[in-house]
Amino acid sequence: MTVSIAAARDILKNNDRGGYTVPTDGLYPFQWNWDSAFVALGWATFDEARAWRELEKLVEGQWDDGMLPHIIFHAPSDQYFPGPDVWRTHHHPPTSGITQPPVLATSIRLLLENATDVAQAEARAASLYPRALALHRWYARARDPHGSGLIAILHPWESGMDNSPAWDAALARVPAAPSTPIKRRDTGHVHADMRPSQADYERYITLVDLYRSHGWSPDRMWAATPFKVADIAINAILHRAEIDLMTLAERFGSPSDRGELAQRLEHQQAAIARLWSEPANLYESMDLITGARIAAATSGGLLPLFAAIPSSDQAARMAGEIERWGQKVPHLVPSLSPFDPRFEPKRYWRGPVWAIVNRMIAEGLNAYGHSALATRIREGTRALMRQSGFAEYYDPVTGEGLGGGSFSWTAAMALSWAVP
Ligand code: GLC
Repeated sequence: MTVSIAAARDILKNNDRGGYTVPTDGLYPFQWNWDSAFVALGWATFDEARAWRELEKLVEGQWDDGMLPHIIFHAPSDQYFPGPDVWRTHHHPPTSGITQPPVLATSIRLLLENATDVAQAEARAASLYPRALALHRWYARARDPHGSGLIAILHPWESGMDNSPAWDAALARVPAAPSTPIKRRDTGHVHADMRPSQADYERYITLVDLYRSHGWSPDRMWAATPFKVADIAINAILHRAEIDLMTLAERFGSPSDRGELAQRLEHQQAAIARLWSEPANLYESMDLITGARIAAATSGGLLPLFAAIPSSDQAARMAGEIERWGQKVPHLVPSLSPFDPRFEPKRYWRGPVWAIVNRMIAEGLNAYGHSALATRIREGTRALMRQSGFAEYYDPVTGEGLGGGSFSWTAAMALSWAVP
């Protein structure tokens, strides 16, 4: 398959719904939170004004308390379940009631630093800065109310790695008893073998029903939930975003903002560092209901590299671990260790490769001086795009493109990172 810059741009243009970009036509017909933060980086390579617009449309969905929802339903569509009638939140435009990994501040920083229209970038970054600050404060308040330094996800969808085996045990404690009738749309777009199972889907919706019954109040959700996990990936992504927010605070913030950020940075760094797993050579998530570490070697456990958490010795061991995975599967970086018996190369977040995750890992490796491996991951991502187009994700064994086709964040990664 030939992939080109023009083809990648066309994907963004075709998925543009007027200031925001849908992840892919059909399967995901609204604006998704972390998708858009990555997609903005793609737009920035050929239309900076449009890139800023993507983030501005995203924060139209931000709640008064700072929460940035995982989906913004700017326009109706009956192609997706659960839609606004299931979430029943009280925001205009309608939104979901849970969040997704906070890439916003990182995206603002990258747009600003790479801008050619500097005056525009300064003005638009200045008005987005308080939004990102409010989001990070929300995380600290709503998702770490006891000040542990680790924030919790209350739904697997908040991780952005919906179906990861890391959530299996915690999710199994959630009853598969939704009050909302399930009308799955995803399996009409993509083969059921690649998507979460029916029982898991029922548990996902049970959690949505529970939180809706608590009026989406963070305190009540925190008290009532049977699912509370310190996801290593979202903690690393938030920490990285706090670092990026600090650089924005140096230009747009007050001394007190910077003091607050410095404190959080120190506290998070120490807490995330404790999630290192000596035998696994990477970091693990923690189940906050049982207090137990979750033994699952996922690509998310490599993301502390992107957040400057590991020591150089730990980073070297993580690089070694990635190379070991690369001896077992030809295409890096699988979302689960291919040595794990739960590894499934085609099923959603249980094995497949995502371009956005590869970028974060490769940038982290570069920062630690492992540039040969970083280049291998970037070249490998480019080869997957050449072989299989801009798919949602790829099979690490065969390189086949899977899930939705013509996928926005994959095209955005081609434009801004793994340039064809
Ligand atoms: C899936 C992914 C999630 C992504 C969404 C839209 O739900 O797991 O990370 O944001 O699709 O692409």
